[in-house]
Amino acid sequence: MQQNIYDNDTFFENFRGLRSDEINFNEVIESPIITAMLPDLKGRKILDIGCGMGQHAMQYSKAGAASVLGIDISEKMLAFAKENNSADNIAYRRLAFEDLEKIDERFDLITSSLAFDYSEDFGKLMKEIYALLDDGGYLVFSTSHPISTAYDGVYDRYTRTEDGVRLYANLHNYGIEGERHFKWVVEDYEVYHRMISTLINCIAGAGFVIEECRESKVPDDILAKYPDRFGGVVHQPDFIFFRCRK
Ligand SMILES: C[S@@+](CC[C@H](N)C(=O)[O-])C[C@H]1O[C@@H](n2cnc3c(N)ncnc32)[C@H](O)[C@@H]1O
Repeated sequence: MQQNIYDNDTFFENFRGLRSDEINFNEVIESPIITAMLPDLKGRKILDIGCGMGQHAMQYSKAGAASVLGIDISEKMLAFAKENNSADNIAYRRLAFEDLEKIDERFDLITSSLAFDYSEDFGKLMKEIYALLDDGGYLVFSTSHPISTAYDGVYDRYTRTEDGVRLYANLHNYGIEGERHFKWVVEDYEVYHRMISTLINCIAGAGFVIEECRESKVPDDILAKYPDRFGGVVHQPDFIFFRCRK
C-alpha cells in the first residue's frame, strides 16, 4: 500500500529534527557509505528517488552532475528541499516511485537513500528503474537491512544484560515477508520486510549485474564517542547498500 507518512505534521517535524542533528544515522552512517559506492558524478544525468529534503541532490549537484532530478511523494519534504537545497542543475518533482512510467527522460545514474523500505512491490520497482537507465547506467541505493526490518515492535530489539547492555539482536519472523509495523518517530510506522535473497533476486531478475553490496557499519571513532546511540549497530546492520549496473 502506498503511504505518505512524511506529510504527517508530527512525523515530519520529528524527522526533520532527527535529520538535522549533526550526529544522525543518515549523515554518520548512510551518506559516507553510499557516497563511496557512487561512480564519478561529473557530467552525470541523475535521478534521486525519494529525495526527501534534497541533501543528496545538493551533494550530487556540487560534485559536478550535469543534472539531478529529485522525486518524492511528500510535499513537505519537497518544500524543504526547494527552499534549502536548490541549484541550477537540480529539479524537484512530486512523484511516487510507483509512477516511474510517467518519467519520459533517461538517466545514467539512479540513486535512492532509504526510500525503498516503503515499496510494496520491489521487483516491479527494479524493472521500472532498469527501463529508465541508459545502457551501462548505474543504480546505487540503500534500504533498511532485512535483519533490521525482521522486527514487530512488541519486544525489545535486543537481548540485554540486567544492566541494559545490548548482548544480541533479536530477529522476529525473518522468513515472513510483507508489512511490518513498529514505533519509530510515530506509534505506527510501516515498512516492508524482505529477505536478503528477495532483494538480490529482484535486482538480478530485472537484468542488473550487482557490482557491490555493503552493510552499514559505524566508524570506530563515532562508536567510541556515542556508544549508547550507535551500540546496536555492532549486533545488527541497519542498512544494506547495492551498486547495480545495466
Ligand atoms: C528516510 S527518508 C530519506 C530521504 C532522503 N533520501 C535522505 O536520504 O535524507 C524516505 C523518503 O522516501 C519518500 N517516500 C516514501 N514513499 C515514497 C513513494 N512511494 N514514492 C516516492 N517517495 C517516497 C519519503 O517521502 C521520504 O522523503
